[in-house]
Amino acid sequence: MCGIVGYAGPAGSAADTSQRPLDVVIEGLRRLEYRGYDSAGVAVVAPDTAQVSSRKKAGKLVNLTDTLAAEPLPNATAAIGHTRWATHGGPTDRNAHPHLADGGKLAVIHNGIIENFAQLREELIAEGSRFLSETDTEVAAHLLAREYRLAGDLSAAMRATAKQLDGAFTLLAVHTDAPGTVVGARHDSPLVVGLGEDENFLGSDVAAFVSSTREALELGQDQVVTITADDVTITDFDGNPVEPSPYTVDWDASAAEKGGYRTFMDKEIADEPQAVAQTLLGRTDRAGHLQLDELRIDEALLRTIDKIVVIACGTAAYAGHVAKYAIEHWCRVPVEVELAHEFRYRDPVVSEKTLVVAISQSGETMDTLMAVRHAQEQGAKVLAIVNTHGSTIPREADAVLYTHAGPEIAVASTKAFLAQLTAAYLLGLYLAQVRGTKFPDEIAAVLADLREMPAKIQAVIDSGDRVRMIARWMDSRSVLFLGRHVGFPVALEGALKLKELAYIHAEGFAAGELKHGPIALVEPGQPVFVIVPSPRGRDSLHAKVISNIQEIRARGARTLVIAEEGDEAVLPYADEVFWVPQSPTLLSPLVTVVPLQIFACELATARGLDVDQPRNLAKSVTVE
Ligand code: F6R
Repeated sequence: MCGIVGYAGPAGSAADTSQRPLDVVIEGLRRLEYRGYDSAGVAVVAPDTAQVSSRKKAGKLVNLTDTLAAEPLPNATAAIGHTRWATHGGPTDRNAHPHLADGGKLAVIHNGIIENFAQLREELIAEGSRFLSETDTEVAAHLLAREYRLAGDLSAAMRATAKQLDGAFTLLAVHTDAPGTVVGARHDSPLVVGLGEDENFLGSDVAAFVSSTREALELGQDQVVTITADDVTITDFDGNPVEPSPYTVDWDASAAEKGGYRTFMDKEIADEPQAVAQTLLGRTDRAGHLQLDELRIDEALLRTIDKIVVIACGTAAYAGHVAKYAIEHWCRVPVEVELAHEFRYRDPVVSEKTLVVAISQSGETMDTLMAVRHAQEQGAKVLAIVNTHGSTIPREADAVLYTHAGPEIAVASTKAFLAQLTAAYLLGLYLAQVRGTKFPDEIAAVLADLREMPAKIQAVIDSGDRVRMIARWMDSRSVLFLGRHVGFPVALEGALKLKELAYIHAEGFAAGELKHGPIALVEPGQPVFVIVPSPRGRDSLHAKVISNIQEIRARGARTLVIAEEGDEAVLPYADEVFWVPQSPTLLSPLVTVVPLQIFACELATARGLDVDQPRNLAKSVTVE
């Protein structure tokens, strides 16, 4: 939540440096806008000025760029920028970041929540600080100003400030006394460094600077970083130097562009075959054994595990539900799936014999991160399935399996979900290999089936016109989704996509639950998507779902059926059928969810809504 960018560039003449700092920051904000889009702001420090120059504006980034066009900022050698997802104080110009202090000489931007802000604010007001906003961030600005007056050095002041703050934060600051310098601090909130030639960058994630450099440094927990045009210095909060961990970003700026598609979501759905294929690549050694990316857990210990708990939020949690069906079937070990925020505050029963699997696209979701830490405190080992390199969850986990979906910019998850499913299957097969619950040839057969899935997903995307047409005609205020077995989490995901993109009421149910209550919702004309399991799978499962379709149709429902090619049994009861290629039951979510994503995306677009940035949402939920 909230996007943060910092830049320090060459200190030349005003003509040499032109507006590069500001341009870099605006470009970074454009790429980070998916993290929050309530308001945006920038601050620059021009050499030899008495005050930081800043502009900030409520609403999307375009409001800020329009303001900058009308009221340009001076040339500078350092700049910071922020795009906000409001927590404390509404999305107004006044509450937008940066916040200034020290008579306008200092500017601060912030991502996270400062939990002890009320008490600090009282203290600072008593000392004479004047607050102009309702934000928690402004406390950090005044505190930093106070510490700067004592230390006379911005990095030292940042360290002293960070130590007094409770909660989660990334802070960036500039000061007129250090015109070419940006100082940052992070605690439980993301910040990465980009290394350029004669220029350096800071960003909430690498998207902020990937169009300028792919060379990056990971920042650890509780560290302070100081960048100038030609130097990067990192310390812990006590001032001890820290050896940075460099890495190269494995995607380029074009991967974070729309590439000719209407929206990022259209592009990300089109990317799905590749996201699955990339996630499958390079997973076996020469002998055909599956491998994880980083395994800091002894394999012998994995054999003693007597329970798996999957923790995640939202779409990632639905990937966890599918994982449960696959892992229990292949590994014969019980799997629980729990929303991370419920797990964290429930006193869960976990021990050294529990493997906790954390699934997260961003690797920064605060609820999931807190649950990871809680599980580790109870002695459990944590394995992370994550898409974003350099993020916090994989760094803290005991094992990591990366999904290689590439950057996901649209706020609602699509391709990352398919990559999470793929990684969950790989994990299930890996555990079956380690624990010996499947023969190697059985594992190889499932892997071969998995490798066929990208082509099948492509076939569903290629035949998406019918579902798009139905979406454009849809005028209902409510849509229901039914599924059984792995079709149940797919139904939940279909409903979530529709809610968050099109803002219409949508509910997913286990089809077997229908007669226990939800069928009362069905009235003539009610659209109901039904995900039908393969007739080649367990006979009874297919037959039961066919009965469910008959039951709702008898009550007037308009049935929109997702069925496997050749499954003629659905035809008498379906108002519409969206065919998907034949696939093994456990792998079928990789194809059955795709028409539901296309449906939600198209319906929202047809209603003129912004599918990439739905209202009230942000991509990375970095606050609890
Ligand atoms: C829904 C969606 C969210 C995320 C959830 C977890 O489309 O994107 O429900 O899945 O906020 O985010 P990550 O995976 O980053 O932990």
